[in-house]
Amino acid sequence: MIPPKARVRTYPVVEKDNWVWVWTGDPAKADPKHICFAVGPGKPGYNIKTSKVSVNSNYRLEIENLTDLSHLTFVHKNTLGGSDAWTHAEITRTDMERGFNSSFWMASSPVPAFSMHLFPPGTLFDVFASIDFTLPCNFVLNFQVWSLGTAKAGKENGQILLDSWTSQAVTPRDADWVDYYYSWGLTDATDSPGMTDLLLEAVNTAFLEDKNMLEAQYRRFKEHPDGNKIDIKHDAGPKKMLFLLDKFLAAENDDLNLVRAKAN
Ligand SMILES: [Fe+2]
Repeated sequence: MIPPKARVRTYPVVEKDNWVWVWTGDPAKADPKHICFAVGPGKPGYNIKTSKVSVNSNYRLEIENLTDLSHLTFVHKNTLGGSDAWTHAEITRTDMERGFNSSFWMASSPVPAFSMHLFPPGTLFDVFASIDFTLPCNFVLNFQVWSLGTAKAGKENGQILLDSWTSQAVTPRDADWVDYYYSWGLTDATDSPGMTDLLLEAVNTAFLEDKNMLEAQYRRFKEHPDGNKIDIKHDAGPKKMLFLLDKFLAAENDDLNLVRAKAN
């Protein structure tokens, strides 16, 4: 029997695009208009599957990882990568109210390593990616594969073969652990038997590759807290997202700021 005087803390909650958003800060500051767009498993016309992974690392490293996709070339060489196109992509970055969008074409590229066995060796495609990075820690990617066209830059002129969406949320549990929720799937129009399962299997394997790398990176940072960090061109995205996040945290000035301070 529940004692009549028992009380628990309540939080503002919103369900949108199959995600449940819980606001743990000052209830007066909860504003649903800041909830980002996502493509959830219930969206009509899509076949989307979901999963999660927990990572023994600080959430800031996970954000840096997500906002620099050049790591697909080496961390995910045998899964999501398979060529150096991700490293050399010319990214168009557009500011959004609470984040930014990165869009780029990778013309004449192989498909990701996990799907290469489906095509004759050397088959090339035009690949497009558009990613919304929004506060607090969300990543929504539209990843498309087109038949090889003749356009050298800009919108391609082939035929769309695969139109996929993945929505991902970096959820800090504390300074040392991140719970990372994600989905991936295709539009019904570009789906085929087994393809969405193949995508989910690939991303499950890839995120374990990230987990191994991020946990090792976090251990190394703790062993050498005063070590030098050298930024390169590909750190522009991570720097921007963490700058926005810090601005957001400072403005909120709540418990989240303490979690970040402990992590540094
Ligand atoms: Fe990764």
